[in-house]
Amino acid sequence: MEQTGRGIWGSRLGFILAAAGSAIGLGNIWRYPYITGQNGGAAFVLLYVGCVFLIALPVLIAELSLGRRTTLDPVGAFKALSPSKKWPMVGYLGVITGIGILSFYAVVAGWTLGYIVRTIIPSTEDFAQFVANPFEEIGYFAAFLLLTMFVVLGGVEKGIERWSKFLMPALFVLLGALIIYNLTLPGAGAGIEFYLKPDFSKITASTALAALGQAFFSLSLGMGTMITYGSYISKKENIPISGASVAIADTTIAFLAGLMIFPALFSVGMEPTQGPALVFNVLPAVFAQMPAGNVISLAFFILLAIAALTSTVSLLEVPVAYMVDQKKWSRKKATVVVTAATFLIGLPSALSQGTVEWFSNLTVFGQQGVLSIMSFVFSDLSLPIGGFFISLFVGWVWGVDKAYQELLLNTSPMMAKILSLWGIFVRYICPLVILLILVSKILGI
Ligand code: PHE
Repeated sequence: MEQTGRGIWGSRLGFILAAAGSAIGLGNIWRYPYITGQNGGAAFVLLYVGCVFLIALPVLIAELSLGRRTTLDPVGAFKALSPSKKWPMVGYLGVITGIGILSFYAVVAGWTLGYIVRTIIPSTEDFAQFVANPFEEIGYFAAFLLLTMFVVLGGVEKGIERWSKFLMPALFVLLGALIIYNLTLPGAGAGIEFYLKPDFSKITASTALAALGQAFFSLSLGMGTMITYGSYISKKENIPISGASVAIADTTIAFLAGLMIFPALFSVGMEPTQGPALVFNVLPAVFAQMPAGNVISLAFFILLAIAALTSTVSLLEVPVAYMVDQKKWSRKKATVVVTAATFLIGLPSALSQGTVEWFSNLTVFGQQGVLSIMSFVFSDLSLPIGGFFISLFVGWVWGVDKAYQELLLNTSPMMAKILSLWGIFVRYICPLVILLILVSKILGI
């Protein structure tokens, strides 16, 4: 074993499933549909898929090679490969972003726990009342963080890998069944049209940034999650194939989630632009009309909670790996301290859904409420900025030649040919496109 002491994935499938477990989560089933709804539907979907395969996938491959080469956390990886003291700042940005995302993500993940409970013990509160109730909000938020903490305490193989193995097939089957059911609902056709018939006049700099940010968020990129996960891959594995499998699995699940939500949304006559509440408003309305709706609802929210858990675990893993590798803290101390800090940082998000007026109404960057602001700052800004520097670093500082030594291990000659394109993407296309989208958003074009 090359990486004694740090843990390593048990098998190739173990790694792919764990990385897919990190990627697939609330980002696909909660965030993707509401962002698509806010950005006009089908044209956004095309832009999103373009961002995933042309920009995010090359960055994913870059992160995985950085991680496996150095077998370190993100800060350590930059320290080990860079001549200058400035580059590790990209790693620090990742550590901070991990905590920032986890702080609001666990709030939404808490909603899924709440909906599991509400399915078993019906409640008279609607979604808006539920999220405005401080006891429920903070209670479920804290419960979800504790769940995450316990899994991370278990370490890489036992903790993360074991959880990821059952999830994907089950989620896939349930989504398929719900899609078929929802397509038969009256009025479903308008949803299909919204989701699949592009209207390109809806594309602006904001839409482009939303698509880019969502691609990074959904693939867990730009903050070093995949550097950290890459650091646990054995040298026997093939990085490009693993990376592409993760990107395809993640995009398929997001696409299916949209196909499940939009027909239902139009059928129950709700607004596609309603924001973070969307999935939690639409699905219970559909489950309520469905035969055996309670059982389906229970299965759905349990799977969603587990999908969220394999993502929160990967979010917590980045700051924990940093503390363990760089500060020499014990895994236990690092996990407990970071979880506690995240809880405090997440409180304003938890109280921003109608509980505390100021947190709920605060509007910055066109985003209303602390939760949406956190989501915009850490997903749409911080992740693409991180991705920009990671591609510059791998393309120009560490150098594509050295990266290729890592990438080409165990690849076929055919694959090596295709991969020669990757160098052009990380050096030129990824940084330029990311910069262009960020700058045009800032200039308000
Ligand atoms: N990709 C996860 C999701 O879609 C969220 C996430 C973002 C996880 C960044 C880790 C890092 O739910």
